[in-house]
Amino acid sequence: APSAIWGGRFASGPSAVMEAINASIGFDKRLYRQDIAGSRAHAAMLVAVGLLTEADGQAIDQGLARILTEIDSGVFPFSTRLEDIHMNVETRLKDLIGEAAGRLHTARSRNDQVATDFRLWIRDAIDFVDGALATLQHTLIDRAEEYAATVMPGFTHLQTAQPVTLGHHLLAYVEMLGRDRGRFADARARLNECPLGSAALAGTGFPIDRFMTAQALGFDRPCANSLDGVSDRDFALEYLAAASVCAIHLSRLAEELVVWTSAQFAFVRLPDAYSTGSSIMPQKRNPDAAELVRAKAGRVIGALNSLLVVMKGLPLAYSKDMQDDKEPVFEATDTLELCLAAMTGMIAHMTADPVRLRAAAGQGFTTATDLADWLVRRLGTPFRDAHAVAGRLVRLAETRGVGLEELSLAEMQTIEPRLTEEAAAVLSVDASVQARTSYGGTAPERVRAACQAARERFARP
Ligand code: ARG
Repeated sequence: APSAIWGGRFASGPSAVMEAINASIGFDKRLYRQDIAGSRAHAAMLVAVGLLTEADGQAIDQGLARILTEIDSGVFPFSTRLEDIHMNVETRLKDLIGEAAGRLHTARSRNDQVATDFRLWIRDAIDFVDGALATLQHTLIDRAEEYAATVMPGFTHLQTAQPVTLGHHLLAYVEMLGRDRGRFADARARLNECPLGSAALAGTGFPIDRFMTAQALGFDRPCANSLDGVSDRDFALEYLAAASVCAIHLSRLAEELVVWTSAQFAFVRLPDAYSTGSSIMPQKRNPDAAELVRAKAGRVIGALNSLLVVMKGLPLAYSKDMQDDKEPVFEATDTLELCLAAMTGMIAHMTADPVRLRAAAGQGFTTATDLADWLVRRLGTPFRDAHAVAGRLVRLAETRGVGLEELSLAEMQTIEPRLTEEAAAVLSVDASVQARTSYGGTAPERVRAACQAARERFARP
């Protein structure tokens, strides 16, 4: 039989394959809250402008409230034949309240309906992710404070470079996540315009009040152009772009955890609750959660790419291609939320090994820059010349097979006679980090102040 929804001009119904490719209910049922909220706002507006009687408006509102309960409690009869969430809800409404249900779709199309639902859904997702990001930030800040003076090697090219503190290192991620929150907030601000009332594409001849529905749904204003209102998916793309950058940050931190937990580094240990064993090697303790956070960034980036390619080249206004906008967004959201939870758990419960970290911090002549700095400060040597002197000392230490701080003063003076005990003292890793007091630097007192500042800068929502 022809579709009950649009079957008027059709003699027969869709084939099974047509139904299978056309239906979106399998995934867009996740929009049900937003769909019902949008319909209730629309119905209230229709009553307010006199397009719907009070009695019909009330029946519709009560019917929709009941449908919300049915879906919430898992008893709602979803049907693939009814294509999508919009038709499933509307058809059920007709079962519940009869003819009045057919008046709800006045001055509305599924095109503006789905665009509205989807904006509302992503807005909720952004708010949730913002909270999860704040939680991870504050977890990192707490751990950073604990490890504010824990010296570790800082790397460039993954070669030891200069000593830093673990607290300082963790705070770098707090900054990244802060920018992520800013990107989500920016996307949210641009997203917050309401497409409802754009109707199919051209607007409507009914005297609707788009400002009323926009306000009722928490939007700042209605979308200014009806064609744009139904065909724009920038809000989803921006959201996925922000999610991708965020996933990359989590992946970089995950990669560091993978490296740091290896036997060769042994900088940190993940708790049992976030580690896995091997079915053959009894000694194994694998950082699977970190590896999967690293992997899942690929899926979030894939979701962004998927929607970019769907949207590329679509003429105005709505095309059915746009129905395929939802799965990437849902998948990216689920993935990101899981990764944020896993990362928060790992960071909250990891334990660092200060002894290993300190020993590693001194390996690879990491305080050579401090010696060059001393020559500049105390002898007025130009930095380039000081660099050369420190370089020769490194070569000497390397030939002897010792660390810089193990050279005797007499040995050092064979290269620069003006070196003193004070110069030798700057070669310790503690002296090195304590010296780096510049704003944003790694000195423990700086890191403690930065933790305090970060707590205030990155408020929880
Ligand atoms: N399920 C559709 C979607 O998600 C709703 C809009 C359908 N509009 C249409 N003209 N067929 O895009």
